[in-house]
Amino acid sequence: MIPAKVKIVEVGPRDGLQNEKEFVSTETKIELINRLSEAGLQNVEATSFVSPKWVPQMADGAAVMAGIARRDGTIYSVLTPNMRGFEGALEAKADEVVIFGAASEAFSQKNINCSIAESIARFEPVAKAAKDAGVRLRASISCSLGCPYQGEVPVASVVDVVERMAALGCDEIDIADTIGVGTAKRTREVLAAASKVFPRERLSGHFHDTYGQAVTNIYAALQEGIEIFHASVAGLGGCPYAKGATGNVATEDVVYLMNGLGIETGVDLGKLIEIGDFISRAIGKPSASRAGKALLAKQRDGVGACV
Ligand code: HMG
Ligand code: MG
Repeated sequence: MIPAKVKIVEVGPRDGLQNEKEFVSTETKIELINRLSEAGLQNVEATSFVSPKWVPQMADGAAVMAGIARRDGTIYSVLTPNMRGFEGALEAKADEVVIFGAASEAFSQKNINCSIAESIARFEPVAKAAKDAGVRLRASISCSLGCPYQGEVPVASVVDVVERMAALGCDEIDIADTIGVGTAKRTREVLAAASKVFPRERLSGHFHDTYGQAVTNIYAALQEGIEIFHASVAGLGGCPYAKGATGNVATEDVVYLMNGLGIETGVDLGKLIEIGDFISRAIGKPSASRAGKALLAKQRDGVGACV
């Protein structure tokens, strides 16, 4: 049975913006996060505490976290690949830290410069420190549905990393389709297998939309009982270590899907499409959200987008 309610994790401020070549001002990032939480997103992935040499766009993570207006009940998450990142996150009073690994060895090397086994060893102290500090811990597993370097990723490899992340005490685990190659059948297979080793209600779907399959894959994931989905307003994003990869599925498209299914999200779609327009203008790129563009045209002109 599909769930009656889902949590949407808005990853636009982090996954969406991290790949922008031009530096997006700290003020714009703060306004984006504030508007997203006001629109009802209960979990916003705000920034990363990673090496600024690797991801220069996230170099202002501490300033972003210091500048946002915290909304009661909203979880502000940040990426922390190591203890240095965790210390920054703790100082910034992040509600949730995200360790990020991969189901593919090649991608692990490209993204975080170490093997899967080495990454887990690096995450161990982060996980322990998060538990000691009472901070939520999430793990993201890249290339769960395919890898830009290795191609096919066996379901068993994903399950293996889910088990290792689960052993670290993760509150949530993301099954990430980094390059958007996944199809509905594969999505169901991977999620069904992952659900056998980690509670399904704490697994999330993180789908990039490169092949236009993300909304379909979310629908497939709903059939597997998945209740948490990641999305990026205006479909912002790409991946610096996955050539040709586009952004995450657009949040507007996901909310539109959920509204049509009668699934509660708590998100105000009207506010969301205005935010999509705001950030698209701020970075000078058209929105990648189909629903966002159609609804914005309708809202502004009082007509359907096709006329
Ligand atoms: P490294 O070079 O192997 O490690 O990088 P290092 O310990 O030798 O550090 C290198 C330099 O970075 C040193 O500075 C460190 O001090 C500094 P230097 O001495 O050269 O001046 N450093 C840091 N600075 C700030 N904060 C830190 C930090 N750690 C080290 N936390 C490392 C290893 C993991 C640090 C590096 O590879 C890195 O930062 N990678 C970031 C990768 C990243 O952010 N990728 C994008 C996010 S993941 C993603 O998008 C996928 C996801 O969306 C799911 C999906 O779609 O698949 C989550
Ligand atoms: Mg991603």
